[in-house]
Amino acid sequence: MVPEIERAVALLRQGELVAFPTETVYGLGADASNPVAVAKIFAAKGRPADHPLIVHVPGAEHLQRWAREIPETAYALAKVFWPGPLTLILKRRPEVLDAITGGQDTVGLRVPNHPLALELLKAFNGGIAAPSANRFGRISPTTAQHVRDELGDAVAMILDGGPCQVGIESTIVDLTGARATILRPGMVSAIDLGRVLGRTPSAGASGAPRVSGSLEAHYAPRTPLALLQPDVVIFAVRESLAANERLGVIAPMPCPLSDERIVWRQIAGEPAPFAHDIYALLRELDGLNCTRIVVQKPPQAENWSGINDRLRRAEAGSGNT
Ligand code: TXA
Ligand code: MG
Repeated sequence: MVPEIERAVALLRQGELVAFPTETVYGLGADASNPVAVAKIFAAKGRPADHPLIVHVPGAEHLQRWAREIPETAYALAKVFWPGPLTLILKRRPEVLDAITGGQDTVGLRVPNHPLALELLKAFNGGIAAPSANRFGRISPTTAQHVRDELGDAVAMILDGGPCQVGIESTIVDLTGARATILRPGMVSAIDLGRVLGRTPSAGASGAPRVSGSLEAHYAPRTPLALLQPDVVIFAVRESLAANERLGVIAPMPCPLSDERIVWRQIAGEPAPFAHDIYALLRELDGLNCTRIVVQKPPQAENWSGINDRLRRAEAGSGNT
């Protein structure tokens, strides 16, 4: 075992927090069966206590340690999408901590697809509770440096696995009802899930505190953010120049002018590379004292649904310093 994994496992066993990379975003990990350790997550993030945490496990064979009455659909989805950016909501086993489930009868489980995360989980051989390693309501971290900037000394160790490949949080699908329901869209789409389930899952009601990602003011930069249609972006640029303001822009086309007041970041026009870059770019622009950040609205298509969800929330929650 590499020494840093050994150290991370030892810290987890001691009830300390270890941040680690996953393919989606960095997680703030704690031993999911240790109430003192789990309490440290909420303290470090400033997260309300009734918001449940995802338990990360090394493989689908661990499901029964945390969940009961597991439907066949869970194993079918696990087989296709794990390790990967999909979280399953299942009925919990009674011994799962209330702090993990938010006192609900369900538990969220995921096998992340990152070599360091998998090595850590296998060596730990248990469940690691991990929310995204950001302060509550802020943009999720996709590099180890982001985690340092967000949480600094609140975490005992940060495993650095480079930039996250997927870049936005996992799709969350609830399998406890008669029909599978997507509680949080992500890069595994409803269509992808429907192919395995034989029926497209329904979209869950947002706004409920069950999923903290469903609060409107989430994934938000401090700088006011506007999502604009492609043809309006250039007007925003002109307006901003006229007002002599500094504007941040994230758009798929190259910057049409050269002016130091316009901080332009070109982003891919395809969902996968867009998701990969968007949080890091928002974080960067948020640190540059722009008056406003403009993001060109992606297409309203199914394979963009996770991205559009996060952008909408970023817009809704932005500007709160
Ligand atoms: O990609 C991800 O899912 C990342 C990485 C680190 O795995 N984690 C993540 O965790 O995004 P967090 O805590 O930031 O968001 C997890 C979401 C929350 O909105 C939480 O409310 C929801 O999962 N959740 C967890 N357990 C749940 C449950 N039993 N029922 C409903 N929602 C649940
Ligand atoms: Mg989060």
